[in-house]
Amino acid sequence: MVYDFDRVVSRKNTQSSKWDNVGPRVGNRDALPMWVADTDFPCPQPVVDAVARRARHPIYGYTYVVPEFYTATVNWIKKRHGWQLDPEWIIFATGVVPVVNTMIQAFSEPGDEIIIQGPVYHPFGHAIRDNNRVISYNSLVYRDGRYCIDFDDLEQRAKSPRAKLFVLCNPHNPVGRAWREEELRRMAEICLNNSVIMVSDEIHSDLMLFKNRHIPVASLDDRFRENTVTCYAPSKTFNTAGLRGSGIVVPNGEIRKKLEARFKSNRSIQQNAFALPAYVAAYEECEDYLEQLLPYLEGNAQLLDSYLRENLPRIRLVPPEATFLMWLDCTGLGMRDDALADFFINRCKVAVSRGDGFGPQGADFVRLNIGCPRSTLLRALEQIREQYALL
Ligand SMILES: Cc1ncc(COP(=O)(O)O)c(C=O)c1O
Repeated sequence: MVYDFDRVVSRKNTQSSKWDNVGPRVGNRDALPMWVADTDFPCPQPVVDAVARRARHPIYGYTYVVPEFYTATVNWIKKRHGWQLDPEWIIFATGVVPVVNTMIQAFSEPGDEIIIQGPVYHPFGHAIRDNNRVISYNSLVYRDGRYCIDFDDLEQRAKSPRAKLFVLCNPHNPVGRAWREEELRRMAEICLNNSVIMVSDEIHSDLMLFKNRHIPVASLDDRFRENTVTCYAPSKTFNTAGLRGSGIVVPNGEIRKKLEARFKSNRSIQQNAFALPAYVAAYEECEDYLEQLLPYLEGNAQLLDSYLRENLPRIRLVPPEATFLMWLDCTGLGMRDDALADFFINRCKVAVSRGDGFGPQGADFVRLNIGCPRSTLLRALEQIREQYALL
């Protein structure tokens, strides 16, 4: 099937967080929503059909995790990332963020340290603080317009007797890095040598741009596999985040048992009736959607890059290797934190995600979601250009 990603579909009055809640969440109800990480593209048709089929049956009682969930996950991860999973390793969860929280609860105590690589997806920090654990920032190093890892710092942090978990984001939201094999090996070795469990959030792993390849860290070595919990979901790829369904890979039986027990005691595992029909249809029937989506996103990223170079040279795009979330270096504007947010959100009326929301390392940056029709992206850029000219 051919998908038309240029088609603008109004999301207003659909209880969309991005569109209908932009005022309360971002601070300006008239701003064009380019913030939260879902796309403005309709889901693939087989997903829509599967949900509609289920909706037509008028009873929405409790459901269970059907065997097709395991088969669909095994097939997809093998096909897209070359990693052969054993179905026994896989757990259904109602999202990746609940898993990060549950891992923290199950494998650390209040006051323990959890390592994250700021600037990073903000719910990691919230999960650590909300559970009364301590954020240990292995801050990413921004050098010559590119992000890399300070391995010595990571090692020091992992050595701390209170360090219990390392939450990796691969590919990384918001800086857009797809970690290379060498980088993954070094991080995984450090964790292993210091008895720090790795939680690898690979939710964006299908969205690899410009020939970058995703490598599941757990697939590199049996020892890494036994020390890693890997989180996948079709939700970013196929725009199903509101249906809540993710596949969590936990090859280590002891870790799996403890994680499942914690889920059970929280009573937080029960899925809604639409989650699995959509999940299975997405992974089993919709690869053609992804094959068309990727070049479209690359086109948007290229447009963004050339528009910034030609018209807004004081804003630089950090080269994106993956995801539809673009990280804009605004150092050249001489504004940060509140002033930078005010410029984009109130003056340009473009609802970006504030960079400092991803950690103090992001104060000079904003995140722009380009998972939208090209005309929407152009509109945002033109709104920014008008105000940029007045600076
Ligand atoms: C890195 C990352 N992890 C997890 C999520 C969301 O996870 P879920 O909706 O499955 O809880 C997002 C959404 O933006 C994300 O970017």
